[in-house]
Amino acid sequence: MSDSSTKPTVRVGIIGGGLMGKEAASAFGRWFVLNDFPVNAELVGVADLSEPALEWFKQVPTVRLLTTDYHELLADPDVDVIYCAIPHHLHEKVYLDVLAAGKDLLAEKPFGIDLAAAEKIAAAAKSSGCFVRCSSEFPFLPGTQRVIDFVKQDRLGVPIQVVCAFHHSSDLDPNKTINWKRQTQFCGEIGVMGDLGMHVAHVPLRLGWKPSQVYAQLQQIYTERPDGKGGSAACDTWDNALLHLDVDINGKSTPMRWETKRLAPGETDSWSIEILGTDAGIRFSTKNPKTLWTFQRDSESGKQEWVQEDLGFEVPFKTITGGIFEVGFPDVLQQMWAGFMAERADELNGRFGCATPEEAVASHQVFAAALESQQNARAVSL
Ligand SMILES: NC(=O)c1ccc[n+]([C@@H]2O[C@H](COP(=O)([O-])OP(=O)(O)OC[C@H]3O[C@@H](n4cnc5c(N)ncnc54)[C@H](O)[C@@H]3O)[C@@H](O)[C@H]2O)c1
Repeated sequence: MSDSSTKPTVRVGIIGGGLMGKEAASAFGRWFVLNDFPVNAELVGVADLSEPALEWFKQVPTVRLLTTDYHELLADPDVDVIYCAIPHHLHEKVYLDVLAAGKDLLAEKPFGIDLAAAEKIAAAAKSSGCFVRCSSEFPFLPGTQRVIDFVKQDRLGVPIQVVCAFHHSSDLDPNKTINWKRQTQFCGEIGVMGDLGMHVAHVPLRLGWKPSQVYAQLQQIYTERPDGKGGSAACDTWDNALLHLDVDINGKSTPMRWETKRLAPGETDSWSIEILGTDAGIRFSTKNPKTLWTFQRDSESGKQEWVQEDLGFEVPFKTITGGIFEVGFPDVLQQMWAGFMAERADELNGRFGCATPEEAVASHQVFAAALESQQNARAVSL
């Protein structure tokens, strides 16, 4: 067992203390649950324009700097890593400022409001020499890890299709007040693909499945929402996106679909992946986070079966949590942070690492092609 007093401590600053900034604080607040982890991680400062957001962080005992000016956090020599969880139109400017200050960065997706921004950030990450990764937590789930292992075992036979999906229904209520995530100027022209796209792109890209062609069906379902001041505001981002992709799997051109939906009736927050081949297949969804489905066909008897297996707490970075217990969103977010910190310390040791700047740029290339496909109603080659 490692002694926490002798381990180095990584000091983290957060820019953007909203929904995700607070989730990150929760991950650091119980860092000690990670077994034999090479570094301690401590949240030391937060920058946000909103006073109530800053007020919330006063309950975190390790936080010593709260500021409305993020430059103050960047000027602090006692901050090693910055986590940015801010609206998409600010990604390029703030991420470039973080790198210019020489800080390592875990950057929230989509890693820039569009492809041009993502390319600039990735170039700056490279020239700065800073350690930079993009947020995407679902691959750290036990079920997703099993899907990745399954593909590496090469059991599929002839690949048939891949479907990666992320569905929620937070926007089904037409009376929900507008926020920055529903407006192109803040969220980006790619709309729902900026919100959810990195989540469906990460696993296929990590498996080396880079799309060569894109045909997109993008939907804008509600075009107006209450503005919260008694009037209405334009809701001008794409709500749902179906991307029909061609991908080379084991030398075979294979259909792959990336589905991202804000209006998926009945879904609260369901991330799923299904990979099918002629000999075997695998399916996992956060809708049933303990359940892994594996398909197998016996070539001699012809018998086909889907086998259901219960999963426990089989995460890449071991914790004190009992192996039979269930995994949840805060756990998987901490696992992603563990992936970031372990790789930064050169201690990944074959475990899964966070999305790279190259993967974030590759996802943006697909989203940019999807916009072109939608505009011209035809498939676009990449
Ligand atoms: N990984 C995930 O699962 C996940 C989930 C939701 C959102 N996100 C991403 O996280 C980022 C933030 O989303 P969110 O849901 O936390 O948004 P949010 O609106 O809840 O929080 C954003 C925060 O940024 C602050 N902010 C705005 N401008 C600022 C500035 N100039 N300086 C400092 N703070 C500023 C706001 O006051 C707000 O508190 C986005 O990139 C989003 O796509 C990721």
